[in-house]
Amino acid sequence: MSFEDLLTWAPAGSREEALARQLNFERLPVHVAVIMDGNGRWAAQRHLPRVEGHRAGIDAVRDVVETSARIGIDVLTLYAFSVENWKRPPTEVSVLMGLLKRYLRLELENLLANDIKFQVIGRQDELPADVRHELDVGQARTSGNRGMRFNIALNYGGRAEIVEAARSAIEAGLRPSELDEQRFGDLLYTAGQPDPDLLIRTSGEMRVSNFLLWQIAYAEIWVTETLWPDFRARHLLEAILDYQKRDRRYGGITQPVVVGR
Ligand code: FPP
Repeated sequence: MSFEDLLTWAPAGSREEALARQLNFERLPVHVAVIMDGNGRWAAQRHLPRVEGHRAGIDAVRDVVETSARIGIDVLTLYAFSVENWKRPPTEVSVLMGLLKRYLRLELENLLANDIKFQVIGRQDELPADVRHELDVGQARTSGNRGMRFNIALNYGGRAEIVEAARSAIEAGLRPSELDEQRFGDLLYTAGQPDPDLLIRTSGEMRVSNFLLWQIAYAEIWVTETLWPDFRARHLLEAILDYQKRDRRYGGITQPVVVGR
């Protein structure tokens, strides 16, 4: 994003503008992953049914997708439905599936206009046929896009993904000596994508909830008390600014700065 773009996007004097001005565009996280949590609590605080929290969460999804693409994030992954979420009441599951369908139908033109490539990670074959159809259309129509990659984790489980990858390795007849971390990573849903640099979780919970277990090995974690339906561009910018202050060592040590060389 150029500085001029930045100024047209964030209104003068706004919190977003102040935060965006502090961003170091040379050190953006390449992949941002988000555990969207707190929809139920958001609804309960307003004496509304839980599903209203999910409905309100769609506005946050739009804002975060748009902002991430604008500032130049390469990959955004949102955790929308886990393999464990089928345990929720059938009406809640069905509203969530309906919201996903609706989101894709309404946002597809926007994703295309912004060159965003949409992909589902998770067990798509277990989803209802009408949802699968919408996902297939979204993935096919955006497959040629070259801008931000937008993954929705749907019917996703980190352990299930690892077990599936192990099964694929066996089915492909790989010998133990042929299997290393790179090769194994290529058997995951996120094959070919960089690992998340920044993992954001809303609503204050300190857990990773079976999300991208392999891929978040070295992710920086940022947790906010903000509930997902209230999450907006400014929170994303705050998370990225905090990320930019972190010293990422990947198990090594910080190299001392040698002055004058
Ligand atoms: C967690 O809140 C949220 C979810 C399980 C679903 C998130 C889904 C959406 C925001 C809508 C669809 C998404 C896309 C990408 C179009 P919770 O219900 O567990 O909240 P609680 O912990 O407060 O009960």
